[in-house]
Amino acid sequence: MFDPADPEASLAPSPRPTVRQAAKQLPCAAVAAAREGKRDVAVVRSASGQLYVVDDICPHDGGRLADGYVEGERLICSRHNWEFDLVSGVCPHAPQRRIATARLAMPRR
Ligand code: FES
Repeated sequence: MFDPADPEASLAPSPRPTVRQAAKQLPCAAVAAAREGKRDVAVVRSASGQLYVVDDICPHDGGRLADGYVEGERLICSRHNWEFDLVSGVCPHAPQRRIATARLAMPRR
């Protein structure tokens, strides 16, 4: 939020960790907020341990996917429970809606 009394603070970088920082601490079947440059993303470790990076916005109604949860190889948005396949990004209930997803090559801790 812009604070006219402290315009520099409004330009401060996001307090989110980097993707690598978030991924290092992430257990299986969990999701965390992160940043990739200036972009807000969600880092997801699936139940099988594979890491993914997805945009932190749900295509249904703008919910933060980093607030969601993981079941198997799917990420579920906590607002209305739409689910997204982490490999394809497709929502099985609304295949025309999908999220951008990318596998992240990083060893388990
Ligand atoms: S905003 Fe994500 S399911 Fe509705």
